Amino acid sequence: MRRFLSLVAVSLIACPSTDPEPPSDPTPSDEPGPAEVVSPEEAEDLDPADDILHVSLTAAPVAEGLDGEAGYAYNGQIPGPTLRATVGDTLVVDLQNDLDAPTTIHWHGVHVPWDMDGVAWMADPLAPGESTTITFTLGQAGTFWYHPHFDTDSQVDQGLYGVLVVEDPDEPEVPDAVLVFDDAGEHHDDGDDDGAASAHAHADPLPDRWLVNGVAGGVLTAPPGQPLRARLLNASNIAYLALRWQGARVIAHDQGLLPALSQPEVLLLAPGDRAEVEWLVGGEDLQVFAEPFSLHGGAAPGEAEVVLSVSSEAPTPPAAVEWPFVATPPPVDPGYTDLRYVFQGDGEQWMINGELFPDVTVESVGLGAETIIELRNVSPTRHPFHLHGHSFEVLSDGAGPATTYRLEDTVDVGIREVVRLRLLADNPGDWMVHCHLLPHAEQGMMTVLRVEE
Ligand code: C2O
Ligand code: CU
Repeated sequence: MRRFLSLVAVSLIACPSTDPEPPSDPTPSDEPGPAEVVSPEEAEDLDPADDILHVSLTAAPVAEGLDGEAGYAYNGQIPGPTLRATVGDTLVVDLQNDLDAPTTIHWHGVHVPWDMDGVAWMADPLAPGESTTITFTLGQAGTFWYHPHFDTDSQVDQGLYGVLVVEDPDEPEVPDAVLVFDDAGEHHDDGDDDGAASAHAHADPLPDRWLVNGVAGGVLTAPPGQPLRARLLNASNIAYLALRWQGARVIAHDQGLLPALSQPEVLLLAPGDRAEVEWLVGGEDLQVFAEPFSLHGGAAPGEAEVVLSVSSEAPTPPAAVEWPFVATPPPVDPGYTDLRYVFQGDGEQWMINGELFPDVTVESVGLGAETIIELRNVSPTRHPFHLHGHSFEVLSDGAGPATTYRLEDTVDVGIREVVRLRLLADNPGDWMVHCHLLPHAEQGMMTVLRVEE
């Protein structure tokens, strides 16, 4: 919070047009300026071959993790190393477990072969002290992420997560930044402990503040005179991120480029969601705000917080990029429903179709089947729905039938809302279906969809 306040003070001093001083050195010498935000360090490629990305990841405890507290990290860093590959590459990961607990790695959003999906359903997690090798081919471009899928709520919360960038060589080369958002500090009130009581008290589990790559209210420096492609991930296990900035240009969601530029007033990232945005900065700094947004009711009262400023030495903003958008009409809802998932809960127990994981009915669909899924939320909180190993088209959501084409792997379901999806079941295996509010998943809001060969 202190950093945020000093940032505001800085811009107040620097901004008046009558100020003859250049805005670059406005802070008195004994007051530290806002901290710098830098992209997470990238993993070293251990294989000289062009089409193989071979990395080594060690999950281990760290004394000073998020917010200076003891936690867990991959290769000692939070966020973990960014893995950067190109479509068609083979990813090889040597995973070493130096935690005092079992763990796994799940590849969120990636169409991995089922035995590489890192879930503990019908397979044992990696025991402490053990290592394993994970390998698969990367068939899709986009911003994905990796995190454990064992004791997920706690392990992600302690700092085990990182970004996987898969580049498409046909997209223009634009400098990028990887920005991982996580919430820090005590929540004002964690509604999960006592949802009913806190709903009566109008208390909301709003985060104290957001960290971007571990920094609150920091400054990201854009390469002067160039556009910046920012890859955003909400890695929080519970908090919704509602971002607002002037002149929003959103180019991609969970599963790569959108069919056209999107310019939303607010970009909502539920836990697990990604988006890519284009920042054109020059002259004035760009300020990125997080609006208060509650999982109990959406937009909430309170002050927006500056979570990040983007600055550039260039005097004017660069020109926008010509992204190779492929215009795609929104899908047409066929009207029938093959599978229905009802989200229920009362703050004590969180269920899908009245069942608590692992005591669940495994639904099956045939390989190659087009499957219409309806999500219905009859509980008092929102839930981000996530399906492993696949992506799906959004047919309709709380706002009505889709007006644009959206391919996602995580989709938010508002309170009392219905969301309809079209899934092409093209990846055989037993895939986890769950709420990405990780305490909910942990408390049972998870099931399995079998895609049968
Ligand atoms: Cu990112 Cu099963 O989750
Ligand atoms: Cu949930």
